[in-house]
Amino acid sequence: TQKAAVGILGLGTVGSGVIRILEAHRKELTHQTGCDIYAKKILVQDASKQRDVNVEGMTLTENAADVLEDPEIRIVIEVMGGVEESRDYILQSLGSKKHVITANKDVMALHGTELLQAAEDNGCWLLYEASVAGGIPVIRGMTEGLAADRISRIMGVMNGTTNYILTKMFQDERDYEEVLAEAQDLGFAESDPTSDVDGLDAARKIAILARLGFSTNVELEDVEVEGIRGVTTEDMQYCAQLGYSLKLIGLAKRLEDRIELTVQPMLIPNDHPLASVQDEYNAVYIHGEAVGETMFYGPGAGSLPTATAIVSDVTAVVKNMMLGAEGSTISKPLHTKVLQNNEE
Ligand code: NDP
Ligand code: HSE
Repeated sequence: TQKAAVGILGLGTVGSGVIRILEAHRKELTHQTGCDIYAKKILVQDASKQRDVNVEGMTLTENAADVLEDPEIRIVIEVMGGVEESRDYILQSLGSKKHVITANKDVMALHGTELLQAAEDNGCWLLYEASVAGGIPVIRGMTEGLAADRISRIMGVMNGTTNYILTKMFQDERDYEEVLAEAQDLGFAESDPTSDVDGLDAARKIAILARLGFSTNVELEDVEVEGIRGVTTEDMQYCAQLGYSLKLIGLAKRLEDRIELTVQPMLIPNDHPLASVQDEYNAVYIHGEAVGETMFYGPGAGSLPTATAIVSDVTAVVKNMMLGAEGSTISKPLHTKVLQNNEE
């Protein structure tokens, strides 16, 4: 069996999940791809830190070049977060003809066009299924599963942390701060959780989905954003008395002459499926002109769900490599190409 070495940037909530899945599903992954996929080197901030995942046989390093300049590593998984450093590492990887998988919606929302162009220029894949809605294959579902359709609306619960907070505040009448701390402990929240609670994380996701769904260059600042900071348990109880649930909703609508993009707390009637999306779960409705309404539902955050999306992207790349195709010549994923605004 051939071997495929991957390098991982980051070994936190998501990176640890990737290691666990590569190990636990090794047989199935080898069977599917014809290749034994293994983590060779992992970049961390502090290599001496005690880890709760078995990294025997792998090299932990604090020096990015150890991973990025290793010729044996053909696939780099970026799960360290942040923006500028991760952008540089992704560009370096692509420049060295390494395929890249990332969970980083910050970098994809801000620099996606540049990074996807670099991938194309280098004949590499840049996949980012995990960046939107954790374990739900919504990017692949929309770009490949609904490729024949014209998407008119994308709407849903796209942030696990805020949905967890809203669920627990309402169900258990618990305090906002306490539930936020719990979401952080569970690994759902961003390293700076203000981006979750102020709606920026959901804005990044709706920008990524809108860019793909509407094949146009959407900028993050095009999204009108309001978070959940001002929501109280009293508000939620009042909503419930009126037969509604309060949810943080991301919405992208194709209008005649423009695209409308918002993230805001919204009242959802209790008999609507979005009202029953609980805890860290996400649900994304995608409306296509021909297909009508479709819904993608599942865990939107967390170690193993998010790592599943990452490793699934890895298998797509490895299968392509096993076909002898370096990058984009065979079964190029649609979502490596973003049409420019003036392109037909
Ligand atoms: P964590 O904070 O748990 O882990 C980050 C990891 O990256 C740590 O291992 C850290 O090293 C390492 N790291 C951070 N900065 C640097 C740096 N400058 N140089 C070297 N190593 C660095 O983050 P998550 O795993 O939660 O998230 C990772 C990415 O995945 C983010 O982009 C996030 O938005 C995205 N994501 C997260 C989800 C989740 O549920 N958590 C879901 C979907 C996407 P050390 O361990 O030594 O501190
Ligand atoms: N912080 C994010 C969330 C992680 O809570 O949804 C998943 O993208």
